[in-house]
Amino acid sequence: MILYFSGTGNSAYLAKRIAEATGDALCFINDCLKRGEAFSDNTQTRLIFVLPTYAWRIPRVVEEWILTSAFARNAEAYFVMNCGDSIGNAPKYVKKLCEKKGFPCRGCAEIVMPENYIAMFSAPDSENARKIVDKARPKLEDVIARILKDQPLAEERTTFLGALLSGPVNKLFYCFAVHDRKFRVDEKCIGCGKCEKTCPLNNITLKEKRPSWHRHCTHCMACITACPTGAIEYGKKSVGQPRYRCPYEE
Ligand SMILES: Cc1cc2nc3c(=O)[nH]c(=O)nc-3n(C[C@H](O)[C@H](O)[C@H](O)COP(=O)(O)O)c2cc1C
Ligand code: SF4
Ligand code: SF4
Repeated sequence: MILYFSGTGNSAYLAKRIAEATGDALCFINDCLKRGEAFSDNTQTRLIFVLPTYAWRIPRVVEEWILTSAFARNAEAYFVMNCGDSIGNAPKYVKKLCEKKGFPCRGCAEIVMPENYIAMFSAPDSENARKIVDKARPKLEDVIARILKDQPLAEERTTFLGALLSGPVNKLFYCFAVHDRKFRVDEKCIGCGKCEKTCPLNNITLKEKRPSWHRHCTHCMACITACPTGAIEYGKKSVGQPRYRCPYEE
């Protein structure tokens, strides 16, 4: 089974390519979180987690969901992480998570995909995004080939910088950067409700046809990207910037 979380389509794209090649079923973690449901299926003996990188680790909200979910005893776990630049030393934390869950860990791969974090950085336009995704394909093919041959994923390099980023910087990031106080909506809002529907954490509600954010955001960027009129801004950072959505994923 392929379990994926995705704010802006990169992980969804990768998960679906892996599913086409392996025939494994797909589970969209966003939907489970939205329904407030943990995973519970003890028949799946191969788990392939396809996840974006948030602050050089897997998203905290997904880690918590995995910890509260019930999987088969001894299910083998592959982690396919995608990022705009680097996953840091995320594999070390993935191994710890596998130990806690009793999963034989089959490795943690890094696939560089387009940057989506428009609350902090600039995202590429659609043409450049396509080039980045095209460049990621050989690594994706390697991951698929290893899964099909029942081999572990290639080990990613660990570095001193990665240790800092995935360790203390990750903690600081969640303390200081991950909040929704800077989200706002302008006059372009047409009250369609797509932001409310898209948020995996039910953090948005519409009041008199205008969205408000309720302080349990994970910064996935799904709402700001999904808005059909570009009415959502994140402070000043997003003004005039392209919203990112994986160009190969509807
Ligand atoms: C909150 C947040 C934190 C991020 N942290 C990192 C990071 O530490 N390293 C990195 O290379 N990319 C980082 N990114 C970029 C995403 O991991 C990357 O664009 C990913 O492919 C997005 O996947 P998605 O479209 O499935 O959501 C971050 C993005 C967000 C929204
Ligand atoms: S409010 Fe927006 S950025 Fe925050 S979790 Fe929901 S969809 Fe993601
Ligand atoms: S998705 Fe955009 S237009 Fe629709 S309700 Fe939300 S902010 Fe308004």
